Amino acid sequence: MNISELKRKFIEIYQGEEDGIRVFTSPGRVNLIGEHTDYNGGYVFPAALTLGSTVIARPREDRKMRLIATDLGIQVEGSLDHLEEYKSLKWGNYQLGVADELQKAGYELTGCDLLYHDTVPLGAGLSSSAAIEVATAIALVSLGNSANGLMQPLDMVKMAMICQKAENRYVGVNCGIMDQFSSAMGKADHAIFLNCRDLSFMHVPLNLHGYRIIIVNSNKKRGLADSKYNERRSQCEQALDILKRFIPDATCLGEISQEQFNRFRHEIHDELVRNRAEHVITEDDRVLKSVEALKNDNMALFGKYMIQSHASMRDLFEITCVELDVLVEEALKIEGVAGSRMTGGGFGGCSVSIVREEAVQNFIDEVGKGYTARTGLTPSFYISDIGDGGREIMDI
Ligand code: GLA
Repeated sequence: MNISELKRKFIEIYQGEEDGIRVFTSPGRVNLIGEHTDYNGGYVFPAALTLGSTVIARPREDRKMRLIATDLGIQVEGSLDHLEEYKSLKWGNYQLGVADELQKAGYELTGCDLLYHDTVPLGAGLSSSAAIEVATAIALVSLGNSANGLMQPLDMVKMAMICQKAENRYVGVNCGIMDQFSSAMGKADHAIFLNCRDLSFMHVPLNLHGYRIIIVNSNKKRGLADSKYNERRSQCEQALDILKRFIPDATCLGEISQEQFNRFRHEIHDELVRNRAEHVITEDDRVLKSVEALKNDNMALFGKYMIQSHASMRDLFEITCVELDVLVEEALKIEGVAGSRMTGGGFGGCSVSIVREEAVQNFIDEVGKGYTARTGLTPSFYISDIGDGGREIMDI
């Protein structure tokens, strides 16, 4: 649906005039490399997609927030004065959680009617939830500022941090900052090299020299992913607690070098915990090397690190699954593929591959066939462009 259609739909649902309606959008992301490093104070290298969450918004006179999505029948209603009450909602909890955190951070919000149109596939590891959170934050703060006669520009990094807090505290997933940061700070045709320890970042041009980024959705549902995610995070914390006894300055795994890890790895007696730390520490190093490879136009080397990253997630961090492993194996059989790995939180979702332009059709045909033959599932392919971060759409 385009913006005019969405506005018409909005009026159909909420009635009234087009006057005062504003439109906000924020993207999903694909992570090129650096998985489960963000909450360990490490590096990530994501890029914002052109798929995203678009919110049609209009302020209300009262303190009510009403929400509906174009692809859902349910309408959710909340009050800005009772935001603690909606945590158990199946849909709407992200939005109301963001409102809650914004108010706690001192933002003065106004009641509003909101219509969501989401194009990021749900539960596919492409940050559909971060897209919704950041779009919501921008909409709520912009409407609140206007209602209160404030003119200041939005602090997008702060928006990302508040959205992460909402997901941690309201939704109960202990995620890192990568998804919300990518959604808020994306830039067309650039990837974001982000240091999650201090949030310093750089937009790196994605000059792919004849290659395309292809995302393949395994269409394997990410069952129990949240609890396994939280479990991985606590295993990383256990590893850090042990390593800190020998490297007292370290405040996170991201501050521990490979050399230090190799010196003290035997002190972590639990093999599982040791493997988790090894993944994080080597992955962090791969991000640095991959960014260099990209800057040097060496796509073959970039691809090599992607392949190593997948192996590490499969064998050490154990967050892949048969379906994701098959997708990557099938991809690597195709001539013209520089690299392939699962992307996102894991346990289902998508792979990301770097494929020569002229090999894309063959990739789609062959990976599709091979994947279906081995898993019985039909994959979806996205050749998404790399787009901008969260913003208000003005000229409509
Ligand atoms: C999810 C989380 C992110 C990050 C990735 C794994 O997408 O939301 O914070 O930890 O998993 O890299």
